[in-house]
Amino acid sequence: MDDYDRREFLSLSLPGFLGVMLAMPSLCALATRANASDGRLPADGSMHWEAFLEAVAKEAAKQHLDAWNQESYVESIGKLARQLHMEDPVMLKAMEQLDTRLKQGDVDFHYLEKRVDFSLCLVQFDVGQIIKPHDHPGMTGMILCASGEIETTNYNVVEPPEGKTLEAGHCLLRRVAKNVLRKNDLSTLTAKERNIHTLTARKVTQLVDVFTPPYNDERSEQSRWFELDAEARPGSPDVFEARIT
Ligand SMILES: [Fe+2]
Repeated sequence: MDDYDRREFLSLSLPGFLGVMLAMPSLCALATRANASDGRLPADGSMHWEAFLEAVAKEAAKQHLDAWNQESYVESIGKLARQLHMEDPVMLKAMEQLDTRLKQGDVDFHYLEKRVDFSLCLVQFDVGQIIKPHDHPGMTGMILCASGEIETTNYNVVEPPEGKTLEAGHCLLRRVAKNVLRKNDLSTLTAKERNIHTLTARKVTQLVDVFTPPYNDERSEQSRWFELDAEARPGSPDVFEARIT
């Protein structure tokens, strides 16, 4: 939805006026939601759930623009996520409902919101639980650590050196980021950079993640898991051969 400030209202031409009229239902809906939140706005200025969701939706709609900058986008989503009030009733309820186990890694996850443009998920790890290396075809991701401590490592696929070929079903991955996330720390990935990642929880950890666009049948089908060699390639300390599983 476009933003209309007071000045724009005062200087509207007829087509502009008609545009505002068309936007009125969504303007009213926003106002209604904002009013409904009265009385439960966090005192520390953080965002309640509905405001957060609206802000993410507005940012996520930018993926349809020709000039969508994925790095700026994941940064914006990270900033918004840091403002989210973690004790919002929606978040607290989701914590109670963490009942679905990921197939690989036995990590609990709970979708908070699933839309065409993005998904919002709460993920909980027990100590030592791992999500093995996997990719996110054509997607961006932002992960916020809400509590706990977790290692994240990201990789890019790289071409083998000139004249070298790999076994069928193998590829080379370059480690491009390795972090330990604690409360309020972020990890991001785009379709081109850091798209493959793996996570290992050092403590019981809760993450909020936003994927844009979200997994759908096609993207889930294209998604791959990787089994990396324990040792890096000789002479390339950050490059690992991996079997695609
Ligand atoms: Fe992932």
